[in-house]
Amino acid sequence: MTNKTVKRHRKPLAAFFVPVILLLTIFSASVASDKKAKSLDDESKQCLKCHSQVRYTLVDTTSGDSVKVKMYNELKIDPVSYLNGTHGGFKCTDCHSSDYVNFPHPASVKFESKYTCLDCHGGDEQYASFHFETIDEEYARSVHADSLGDEFTCWSCHNPHSYRLTDKDNSITNLVAYNNSMCLKCHGNSLISSTLTDKDITNLVNKHDWLPNQALHFQKVRCIDCHAAQNDSLMVAHLIRPSSEAVKKCVECHSTNSILMSSLYKHAAREKRNELGFYNGVITNEAYIIGANRNYYLNVASIALFALTLLGIGIHTLLRILKNRSNADK
Ligand code: HEC
Ligand code: HEC
Ligand code: HEC
Ligand code: HEC
Ligand code: HEC
Ligand code: HEC
Ligand code: HEC
Repeated sequence: MTNKTVKRHRKPLAAFFVPVILLLTIFSASVASDKKAKSLDDESKQCLKCHSQVRYTLVDTTSGDSVKVKMYNELKIDPVSYLNGTHGGFKCTDCHSSDYVNFPHPASVKFESKYTCLDCHGGDEQYASFHFETIDEEYARSVHADSLGDEFTCWSCHNPHSYRLTDKDNSITNLVAYNNSMCLKCHGNSLISSTLTDKDITNLVNKHDWLPNQALHFQKVRCIDCHAAQNDSLMVAHLIRPSSEAVKKCVECHSTNSILMSSLYKHAAREKRNELGFYNGVITNEAYIIGANRNYYLNVASIALFALTLLGIGIHTLLRILKNRSNADK
């Protein structure tokens, strides 16, 4: 609540609201700082002295000389996104071999086997609502697992150093942007995709030129809304199908039973459905999708109006017939 809204109340009310607001502010600040409480431990800070820099300092331990050396872009980690990530409370060596504390890193660490998501989340009650096992099965049947095999893993989309669970209260536009950025990392970057395939998977504009106002669509719907098969038990569909099976028909979204209600708007749809009497009321909050937004009360009103009109015509006709009859009788 802003000061403006407080000022509109008369004195006694303000005297009540101000302390409440102060308390709320202090409370929310302490909650926020709780979330920020994640911090890097000293060992991880040592790793990031090199792995977060454009250039790092290499010291020759025998001569004591030091040089600045370029850090490869691919090996760079942004400490802020790291800490904000879902696994931001981890030490680097929780996932990586502790032999990485040595530099030059010994050759043996190149052979370390990497954790999979299920190594930590599989069969764990605490994460049951995410259905990790079902996601794993769906992923195994997806185009990426199918054509790229072991080269491609959950980590290919879920950056181990920045993935975060999105805030479901976020605006649809932010949710879509974050989500699509996970695909565009490769499907928009020939440098990365060329390490995986010879195919050109980056020219999305041409491949989607059948879609009018493509830029707007890409801001308002996720890639997975067209490319992944829905699974009722999952919040986020993971079965990405070949592009020949992707959604192309406009009516699949632009209609009252829009597929978006069981995909993109799944989170919101659970709570807010039909709050205002709108079919797809949640969609109306964020977007105007031609054909998908209709109002229940307006529909009833127009049907009632139509019925009244018919009734009116009926009565009118009846009266005329009666009048004609009585005229004829005379
Ligand atoms: C003195 C700078 C420096 C420090 C400190 C450092 N690294 Fe590295 N790291 C590098 C460089 C340079 C490479 C690339 C050359 C190589 O692979 O050895 C690398 C490579 C890596 C790789 C392998 C990347 C790949 O895919 O081949 C990992 C993983 C890694 N470092 C993790 C760590 C961890 C974890 C720490 C801290 C415990 C750490 N590094 C500390 C400079 C450093
Ligand atoms: C939750 C587990 C996890 C944590 C924590 C983690 N990493 Fe990683 N890291 C991985 C995985 C998995 C890969 C391989 C990614 C892939 O194969 O695509 C990786 C890859 C890397 C690479 C190679 C470049 C890349 O992105 O593929 C470097 C360098 C690296 N990690 C450094 C670090 C440093 C430094 C830290 C601590 C600040 C850290 N990692 C913390 C799981 C983790
Ligand atoms: C080394 C073990 C480990 C690995 C590997 C790992 N996680 Fe986690 N994950 C955790 C732990 C521990 C937490 C709880 C972190 C916390 O509460 O701060 C967590 C939290 C999460 C959460 C948030 C749960 C919540 O309720 O907020 C999600 C989502 C998640 N992980 C997804 C993944 C995905 C996807 C992968 C693979 C790409 C993965 N994790 C790999 C250990 C792991
Ligand atoms: C092709 C890319 C891709 C791959 C591969 C992938 N994911 Fe995801 N995953 C996503 C996207 C996109 C999201 C949604 C991100 C968002 O908007 O919050 C997501 C979300 C999740 C979530 C959170 C669901 C929620 O309720 O918000 C979990 C858990 C998860 N993935 C697990 C996995 C596991 C386990 C694997 C491997 C078996 C995997 N993912 C592989 C793209 C991928
Ligand atoms: C790590 C890089 C990477 C990421 C991230 C990624 N992809 Fe892909 N994707 C590829 C590659 C490489 C191929 C080509 C596979 C092949 O050679 O057939 C591909 C293929 C596809 C195809 C099949 C195209 C066809 O020819 O039928 C679709 C659809 C697709 N990706 C959608 C997505 C979506 C949606 C996401 C995000 C949820 C995503 N991809 C994330 C690399 C990636
Ligand atoms: C409105 C639905 C829709 C959206 C949104 C959408 N796509 Fe597509 N996409 C399709 C359809 C349909 C095709 C097949 C087009 C054809 O073959 O004529 C396709 C084709 C593709 C292909 C295959 C290209 C090739 O070389 O054959 C890839 C890769 C792809 N899309 C990735 C993406 C990514 C990444 C996003 C998100 C940024 C995205 N798509 C968003 C419907 C969509
Ligand atoms: C995956 C779902 C989906 C599919 C498939 C889809 N649309 Fe849309 N479309 C949307 C959404 C969501 C918006 C709302 C954008 C906004 O917020 O204004 C939209 C907006 C539009 C707009 C309004 C653009 C503007 O300038 O305001 C037009 C026109 C449109 N779509 C036409 C089409 C046509 C034609 C097709 C089929 C070739 C199609 N759409 C397929 C989801 C979809």
